[in-house]
Amino acid sequence: MEELIAQIREATGTNVGIDEAKRIIASFLAAGDFWAALPYVDQPFNVAAETAKALFDRGLVEFKNSEILFTEKGKKWLDEQRIQPLIISTCNNCGGRGISLQSFSGLLKRFKELVKDRPEAIVEYDQGYVTPETTVSRVAFLAQKGDIQGKDLLILGDDDLLSIAAALSGLPNRVVVVEIDERIVNFINNVSKRENLGIETINLDLRNPLPENILRSFDTFWTDPPETVEALELFIGRGIAGLKGPGCAGYFGITYAESDKFKWRDFQKLITGKLGAVITDMITNFNEYVNWDYLLETIRNDIEPLTVYPSLNWYRSTQFRIEVLKDTPVYNEPATGKEIYVDKDALVFTGMDREEK
Ligand SMILES: [Fe+2]
Repeated sequence: MEELIAQIREATGTNVGIDEAKRIIASFLAAGDFWAALPYVDQPFNVAAETAKALFDRGLVEFKNSEILFTEKGKKWLDEQRIQPLIISTCNNCGGRGISLQSFSGLLKRFKELVKDRPEAIVEYDQGYVTPETTVSRVAFLAQKGDIQGKDLLILGDDDLLSIAAALSGLPNRVVVVEIDERIVNFINNVSKRENLGIETINLDLRNPLPENILRSFDTFWTDPPETVEALELFIGRGIAGLKGPGCAGYFGITYAESDKFKWRDFQKLITGKLGAVITDMITNFNEYVNWDYLLETIRNDIEPLTVYPSLNWYRSTQFRIEVLKDTPVYNEPATGKEIYVDKDALVFTGMDREEK
């Protein structure tokens, strides 16, 4: 076991502990498939991949496409290590979100029709969009919190097209989208015009400050930042700058796939420290991402499961809700030229050499 841990740490530059590795292995055991195990490993993608490789290198598992099968030697070793499978009990109705779509089934149907010919995700902006069920669950979650009824909603980055689902629900008073990708801005504008949704769009890189006329103007913001501390500070800072004041809420997602526990702690320190907000809600695996076209071209391919396109949506994020308090500060400084997309846990390497970090 020590050797196995050493290999994982060395190859991933992380500080994974024995119990963390055991949880990954218990997920493999429960799911029997590399991709299916990922929502439960609670570790960066590369750590899970390296764990599978380390098991394979020692003859403890065999691969069959993306399946992970423990060998006789592997089964004996599991006994010695006292590793038992996770018992996965995620609710089949809501996918574990704890949100029923019963009151929103009409919205889901209409939303699916409207976004059928949506723009595909591109690597340049670290895109990847969620399932329609996830997007509509976001509307339902907002409505359960009272953060959308008659409220002004600011969406920072909208490749999930939440603006369309939100406006279609008829619940918000105003919906404004700030988005870097012109294809998405155009798509939202076209749908909004055709369906008379009244969505306002601003084509802007969030490294630039929010325009004066939308500062302190919203009750709620929603964003899905790239997973670096820099991006989180920037996106959530901008979101808070857009809010009217105390009691207003912000929503965003964070994954384990691209962030280890040290980064999670850094995120939490940032949110409750410098940014001065309070975390009110966290829902595990709330956001389910549709497998994106460029996935297999951009990840490692040194073990068989990583050469097989996943048959289920494996990339998930935990949904956070925060509220601002009376003493929450407002930041809106420019961050021009800052690298915000890539760090050591990123799935995709876009130009920054791993060694340089
Ligand atoms: Fe449920």
